[in-house]
Amino acid sequence: MKNIDSKTHTRGKSIYLDDIPLLQGTLFGAAFGSPIAHGIIRSLNISVAEQMPGVIKVFTAKDVTGENQIGGIIPDEPLLAEHEVDFCGMPVAFVVAQSDDAARAAVKTITIDIEPLPVITDPREAKARGELIVPPRTFSLGNVDTAWQACEYIFEGIAETNGQEHLYIETQGAYVIPQENGALKVYSSTQGPTAVQRASCRVTGLPMHLVEVEVTRLGGGFGGKEDQANTWAALCALAAHRLRKPVKYSLHRMEDMAMTGKRHPYSSDYKIGFDKDLKMVAYEATFYQNAGAAADLSPAIMERTLLHCTNSYFIPNVKATAYSCRTHLPPNTAFRGFGGPQSMFVIESAIAKAADTLGIDSAVIQKKNLIKTGDEFPFGQKAVSEAAECWKKAEQLYEVNSIREGIKDFNSKNQIYKKGLALMPVCFGISFTNTAMNQARSLVHVYFDGSVSVSTGAVEMGQGVNTKILQVAAIVFSIHPDRVKVQTTSTSRIANTSPSAASATADLNGKATYLACTRILERLKKVAAEELGVDENLIELKDEYVFVNNVQSDLDWKKLVNTAHLKRVGISEHANYATPEIYFDKAKEKGHAFSYHVYGTAVTVVTVDCLRGIYEIDAVKVVHDFGTSMNPAIDIGQIEGGIVQGIGWMTMEEIIYDKEGKLRSNALSTYKVPDIYSAPKEISIDFLQSDKDNLAIFRSKAVGEPPFMYGIGTYFALRNAIKAFNPLAHIPFNAPMTPEKTLLALYSNPQPLSKEIKRKDEEAVTSVAIN
Ligand code: MTE
Ligand code: HPA
Ligand code: MOS
Repeated sequence: MKNIDSKTHTRGKSIYLDDIPLLQGTLFGAAFGSPIAHGIIRSLNISVAEQMPGVIKVFTAKDVTGENQIGGIIPDEPLLAEHEVDFCGMPVAFVVAQSDDAARAAVKTITIDIEPLPVITDPREAKARGELIVPPRTFSLGNVDTAWQACEYIFEGIAETNGQEHLYIETQGAYVIPQENGALKVYSSTQGPTAVQRASCRVTGLPMHLVEVEVTRLGGGFGGKEDQANTWAALCALAAHRLRKPVKYSLHRMEDMAMTGKRHPYSSDYKIGFDKDLKMVAYEATFYQNAGAAADLSPAIMERTLLHCTNSYFIPNVKATAYSCRTHLPPNTAFRGFGGPQSMFVIESAIAKAADTLGIDSAVIQKKNLIKTGDEFPFGQKAVSEAAECWKKAEQLYEVNSIREGIKDFNSKNQIYKKGLALMPVCFGISFTNTAMNQARSLVHVYFDGSVSVSTGAVEMGQGVNTKILQVAAIVFSIHPDRVKVQTTSTSRIANTSPSAASATADLNGKATYLACTRILERLKKVAAEELGVDENLIELKDEYVFVNNVQSDLDWKKLVNTAHLKRVGISEHANYATPEIYFDKAKEKGHAFSYHVYGTAVTVVTVDCLRGIYEIDAVKVVHDFGTSMNPAIDIGQIEGGIVQGIGWMTMEEIIYDKEGKLRSNALSTYKVPDIYSAPKEISIDFLQSDKDNLAIFRSKAVGEPPFMYGIGTYFALRNAIKAFNPLAHIPFNAPMTPEKTLLALYSNPQPLSKEIKRKDEEAVTSVAIN
């Protein structure tokens, strides 16, 4: 089944925030953000702005009628700065005017006098100064301290990854319309309608039942609208509440880039030990997360960093510690993978370091250490693993050995161009790391004309969740998909929603829909049995007809629902789903955190132009564990998109903040994302069919985030190509591998390799200085 949005998307008829027709009298907002990253506000001058033509009001912190606070996990983020600014672009004032132009013109006249304070942009510096968002956490398994004794080889070093701009095509924005009796209707481009509702209520002081949030769809979110849509909706809600007029704010691209947080940059230390057969014996990692100026979702993201610190490998002795470090950057936030990609990069770096030093291929180490069913993750859950299946199938199907030979041959014949290969196994846990968030609701109405309406908490952001939910209803009722409509997401129809995130949206909302439909179906079967005078157990609905004992009757779906209605049998249902089995004990840092894991292996081949440092990605070929995909077209789209987005993070997307905390890569002229030319020439996706029982909807495993991490393979393939040109090249584990860094690495001085092997009884040699 095609994505139900494909027709309106291709014709430009899909409705986004900016497509909502405006009511007469609508006012327009624009935020004034702090020009510097850290300091005490001495004075703020809005008097010129207030006199500008068309300006209705300039809101500052003192105009907040409720609580001036939007922090979700920790209350550490004012909506509008009061005494202090903590990052460049932090909203200080909100101008509301009769036109968008008037609002933005007025913003330009606002001046602020700030006494500057020291700016921290580096997470290790923040940690050294005790600037932590939450106390550090440590996950451990076995005992690393004694395990080092048993290691034949030990390697240590640093690995770093940069941030990433979400670059959803639709920027952030909201449109708030006052209703009667003080209520508000909020349209928001958000993954979390309830988060927006909560923030709007907090700043206005309204109770939740007076604020309805509705979302039709997003032009992408990628995590950037899980929490950070709140600011813009809360500003518009505050203004609409005070002025009793509709207020809209839709950010310009450069405002969005400057004022919103991104993927967290991480700097990490690793130490890994192997026995003589290259089995991993011990792993220690310390993660320094650059959280930015406020908590936002950073503590939850830090938790997932720890949950994924061993990626797809089993290591009997692990100690992983993470620090969420407060800096003066815009608060960093959720981004596809949610802290998982960052720790996976670190263990892959540790493996590459070992392989380099021992003069072997990383794949030798990777393959030996893949997690097996029954092995324990550092947080205590036992794996139900497809890791080896994916790896082996990839090796065979894509003939990795002959790719390897071909590359060797190519590299021996070419001076200027070198190819590199890398394999990247991925293991990603499905469930919100916060157990309480793993719940969802669905409201299903069957109308007496036979059509069906489904409302859930799921937000469509291009990932195809509405299509999957529609399929669930059509499958349970066994009716034509055209009979089903998935409605907009509204907090009045579905309350207390978790954001559409964690790749779990189709599982959670699909299962709630399954429950609601199944209950209606049971009632319909009873009606059919009565109508046909047969036993209820003989009744089945198939292809729009009632079947009795596998024989089609002339009672069709439409007649059946109409009969049920006339008999006053309810044909609507509201169902609640909560993921079973999961729990987590934070005191012990152990539990069954995930309902299941998704596995896969990617094979990546790249070609580097060793004169210029530029490169092409020849192919990314994956074997992916879909379970039993309920929509291969959508799932393939998710994999292709995830791969390209992951490659962007690992190669060309380079966020640059200067020492003053100002974003330098603040437009699409300075921030490069993959286009069709930089995407892999070939992407192959093979479905690992596994019919193992799992908690996915119709056993169709979640697919939103896991493929992002296949992109990490590209970094290591590039590294291998560089090494083919300059075997002793100095290539720090520091992503992204931009063409500039590639060029520097190609012509770098040899790295003193021998120093880095440390035998068990030798004195410690730290490679930090070299790496
Ligand atoms: N795909 C598209 N087209 N647009 C998006 O914004 N977000 C990603 C992923 N795929 C995203 C996407 C992220 S971060 C997540 S968590 C999942 O989709 C969320 O949707 P799901 O739970 O339905 O997979
Ligand atoms: N993923 C995405 N969003 C979240 C999570 C998660 O695991 N936990 C809390 N919010
Ligand atoms: Mo995705 S980062 O969980 O929105």
